[in-house]
Amino acid sequence: MRNLIGIEDFSTEEIDELIEVSKDIISNKEKYLEKCKGKILATLFFEPSTRTRLSFESAMLSLGGSVLGFSSADSSSTQKGETLADTIKVVSSYSDIIAMRHPKEGAPIVAANNSNVPIINAGDGGHNHPTQTLLDLLTISQEKGRLDNFTVGLCGDLKFGRTVHSLIIALSRYENIKFVLISPKELKIPEYLKQDFLDKKNIEYTETESLEENIDKLDILYMTRVQKERFLNEEEYVRLKDVYILDKQKLEKAKNDLCILHPLPRVNEISTEIDDDPRAAYFRQAEYGKYMRMAIILKLLNIK
Ligand code: CP
Repeated sequence: MRNLIGIEDFSTEEIDELIEVSKDIISNKEKYLEKCKGKILATLFFEPSTRTRLSFESAMLSLGGSVLGFSSADSSSTQKGETLADTIKVVSSYSDIIAMRHPKEGAPIVAANNSNVPIINAGDGGHNHPTQTLLDLLTISQEKGRLDNFTVGLCGDLKFGRTVHSLIIALSRYENIKFVLISPKELKIPEYLKQDFLDKKNIEYTETESLEENIDKLDILYMTRVQKERFLNEEEYVRLKDVYILDKQKLEKAKNDLCILHPLPRVNEISTEIDDDPRAAYFRQAEYGKYMRMAIILKLLNIK
């Protein structure tokens, strides 16, 4: 039985195959309408979500399956003190596959150790968000036609932003990827990512605090929200929250074929004035999430 806990759980060939299946789903939706007939997806969200939970549910419904679950720990027996292990033991007897979001890093491993059905990590604390990364790769492939030879700017909260952690690990596998890591010094990427992935694989990267001075070099700009929920100090959040705001003026220096991504939700970091710019791909990115999650469900349930 396969789980998806981190992006490392899939080989590069498997990631490429998931992208191809997603593209086939986009072109041939009717072919997939009954692939998961009789199957049940449980969505256990111990933290808030709009896109991940609803796109997983939409994905399973579009495959002919059914869904059950909860959207907050408060509406589950966690509130009464039930352990994650016990919750998973029970829910895995009600379902064929589980997508789970949890505030604790590593919680998906506890879930996998107590489950009879595949576990999908739908975000664990500030750690990883592998299904977001897979849909990010699908988006890059759709928008740019390849996954290699890019200068990628990651901008904002690189410390707590779990989507950028998984994305660095995934993109490090492709040829000639350079990173420009744009963040305030308080929100730099964790050291382990530099040591275990960037340095180990001799990947070129620079760390900077300036978006303006670097935007002209980028092929892809991945904006992120400052993760309010991970801060221990409210004052520090308020000081850092609006440090980067992408607007029309900043985009003047950018390449004509820049691809602008954001996992969403956004707060202030992308001005709505650029939503109609053809380079703004973040709403298309959210839509691709559904198709990638259909492909992930099929793969983990071993349905061709
Ligand atoms: N990108 C993302 O994970 O969005 P949600 O928090 O709305 O699921």
